Parts: sequence; C-alpha cells; structure tokens
Amino acid sequence: MSKNINPLSKELIQARLGEHPWSESIHVFVQVSSTNTLAKELAAQGAPSGTVLIADRQTSGRGRLGRTFLSPGDVGVYLSALIRPECAPAELMHLTCAVAVAMCDAVEAAIGFRPGIKWTNDLVVGSKKLGGILTELSLNSKSGLVDYAILGIGINCRQEAQDFDESIRNMACSARMVTGKDADRNQLAAEMIRALHRMEETLLTGRDEMMARYRADCITLGKEISILRGEDVFHGSALNIDAEGALIVRLDTGEIQTVNSGEVSIRGLYGYI
Ligand code: BTN
Repeated sequence: MSKNINPLSKELIQARLGEHPWSESIHVFVQVSSTNTLAKELAAQGAPSGTVLIADRQTSGRGRLGRTFLSPGDVGVYLSALIRPECAPAELMHLTCAVAVAMCDAVEAAIGFRPGIKWTNDLVVGSKKLGGILTELSLNSKSGLVDYAILGIGINCRQEAQDFDESIRNMACSARMVTGKDADRNQLAAEMIRALHRMEETLLTGRDEMMARYRADCITLGKEISILRGEDVFHGSALNIDAEGALIVRLDTGEIQTVNSGEVSIRGLYGYI
C-alpha cells in the first residue's frame, strides 16, 4: 500500500464540508471498537440528531446478520451518523435502501464513479464489494416510536487486492482499485455527511422517489440468485423490490416470495454477486 499522505482529520472534513448543520457534531477517532456501538452509547446519553462518528480503524467492526466487518487502519472510512426521526418504526422500512442510495451519491461526488448496490446493503463495483451498511434502530419503550437510528457505513478506499484478508480477497475491492488513485478520505467523509443529511431531510416524505433511485442502482434485479436463510438455500430470480425494500423473488418452484433483509442473505449463482 502507498504511504498515506492524507490522514483522516476533523478539521479537513469540516473544511471540505463548509458551513453545514452537522459540522459541529463531527467526532474523529484514531481507533474505536465500532462507531455504531459508540453511537448507540452516545444516543442513549442524549446525543443530538446529526452526531457523526468517524474512525480510522475499528477493532470490532460489525456487519449485518451478526457478521464481523474487518476495519483496518489507514485504508477506509468507517462512519456512523445518529438521527432521530419522529415516526413509527414501520415508516422506516426503507431506511437502509435510502442510505445505500445516499452512499452511491457520496462516492460519485467524492471519487468520480457510481457504485452499484447488491440488495440490500452492499456497495459493489463489478463483482466486488466496495463497502457495507448497517442501520440500527432503537425504540422508545413507552411510545413505541423511534428514539434514534444509527446509520453505519464502511467504505474501502486505499487497499490493493493483497491488502485484504484472504477470507474476503476475491470478494472485496477499494476505490483505489477502481480508479488507480488514492481517494481523499476526508472528501469522501464530507460527501457522506452531506448525502446522509440530504437523505434525512426527505426520509419520511420522499420514500417513493428514493426507492425508484434504489431500484435503478440495484444490480440484483433481474439476476438469478441463491437465498440463504439459516441452513436453508433457495434458488430463484430477483423480480422487483417493493416500496419497503423487500426483494420479490420467483423461486425455481414457480412460487413468488417476498424476502426481508433481516432474515436472509443472497448470493449470485456463481459467487458473491
Ligand atoms: C455489512 O457489510 O454487513 C455492513 C458493514 C457495516 C460497517 C460499518 S463501518 C461503520 C459502522 N460501524 C460498524 O461497526 N459497522 C458499520
């Protein structure tokens, strides 16, 4: 890997962001266990909507379905934003999809190419994963309404193929591998914040437009896929994505099923995509 002349810094992110409502609530760390875990702790202590945590390295980065998200130092952007939408949880079924589209916007603005989305929450380029998204909700126990949501995103920026752990090497890529250049991680972090804030402003009013954009970016549609639910594997083709982000699949048996991201992961028939 090339020498890093561009460390993550709060001041540089703020400078690239300019005047922005979330600018004063950005926190940058050299190392944390998980920015999502820390964001949840701060949320429970009353941190305001728009709090953003960014780490150069995570020792216990978390992915969807209880998986680990490897988060080495000097190479990625690991960011969690805390928002407090005033609504019932059922109104946020499309949240992960909305974050995914926002992250495509951010990568495009900061680095100059638009990734695709592998349903539900992976940013991909070609057949490889560029980044992932983990959204987590907490409800107010009395009202049943949303107390807060944590929007966690990890994007690989500076790795060469050999820098990835062997376990993910043939499935992962970085911005550097796509463009041949070092991405400015501070610029990317600033664009991620900008895109998340824009997304949050229309989260409850702009669902249909967000989902139309999600379908346009989603590379899973039309593909033959395997659906992994616990020990069970089903085969079928991805027909559509509904208004709440669930995948509508025609199984090889002919049965049409609606699958939710919380329960299953999917694979292409010949690999990750
Ligand atoms: C996945 O690929 O399943 C989701 C990965 C999400 C990783 C990000 S990195 C920032 C935030 N903190 C975490 O522990 N996870 C998310």
